[in-house]
Amino acid sequence: MTELKTGVRPATVSVEHLEMVFTARGRRQKALEDINLTIAPGEFFVIVGPSGCGKTTLLRILQGLAHPTGGRALIGDREVTGPGIDRGFVFQQDALYPWRNVTRNVAFGLELQGITKADAAKRTQEMIELVGLTGFETYYPHELSGGMRQRVNLARALAIAPAILLMDEPFAALDALTRESMQRELLRIAAAAGTTIVFITHQIDEAILLGDRVAVFSPRPGRVREIISIDLPRPRPESVKQSPEFQAYVGHISALIG
Ligand SMILES: Nc1ncnc2c1ncn2[C@@H]1O[C@H](COP(=O)(O)OP(=O)(O)O)[C@@H](O)[C@H]1O
Ligand SMILES: [Mg+2]
Repeated sequence: MTELKTGVRPATVSVEHLEMVFTARGRRQKALEDINLTIAPGEFFVIVGPSGCGKTTLLRILQGLAHPTGGRALIGDREVTGPGIDRGFVFQQDALYPWRNVTRNVAFGLELQGITKADAAKRTQEMIELVGLTGFETYYPHELSGGMRQRVNLARALAIAPAILLMDEPFAALDALTRESMQRELLRIAAAAGTTIVFITHQIDEAILLGDRVAVFSPRPGRVREIISIDLPRPRPESVKQSPEFQAYVGHISALIG
């Protein structure tokens, strides 16, 4: 794999006393309560917690698509008030345009920025290579497997050199083997890209394998129960899962989630 100049300047993500209360059909429901996080530039930060604990809500707030009812979120020292090209995202459902081939999907975000066609084409090709899709440039989404489509999403998200990358259960819809290979790929890509990553999952082993730190959220309303530093050396091969250290993290986090 060639050395990649991603142009990323990873940012700090801060969340201060964040609260989110939804009102639906006249009923108030608190989804997030007093969330406080400081995520370092370039950190791989994972959030785990049961379904409905507000993980997606938190990510939508960071994306700028939902506005908290209390507290605030910051990228660097700028408060998040709306969407921006400093943030890339990959969600569980791939968001590819079916009528665009791989190259055109990856280039999509770049086309919205005022860069030259030649630079956009070079950048697009680098990202396709980074995610391991060389040779599939002219394929359309329906001709790709689920894992390959998520690679395209990842390439598109990284093409804009985001300061942070937001990932909401990106591998949840994949079969177990594809998921494992995507985890390995993401570890490699994250190291190459250097961006800050906020990654959501409900799979404990995925959280430990990937994360520098893992925040465990409580059931609704979501609160930070504990933040655990994962002191496993990198690179982390699949075999790390068999180590007693890894199993100790699994035991600890499982007990927290209950
Ligand atoms: N737009 C919305 N309107 C009303 N309630 C919502 C909305 N979005 C999420 N919720 C509620 O907030 C809670 C957290 O949802 P979500 O963030 O999707 O959780 P998770 O991603 O952890 O499963 C749930 O109870 C959900 O029903
Ligand atoms: Mg969710």
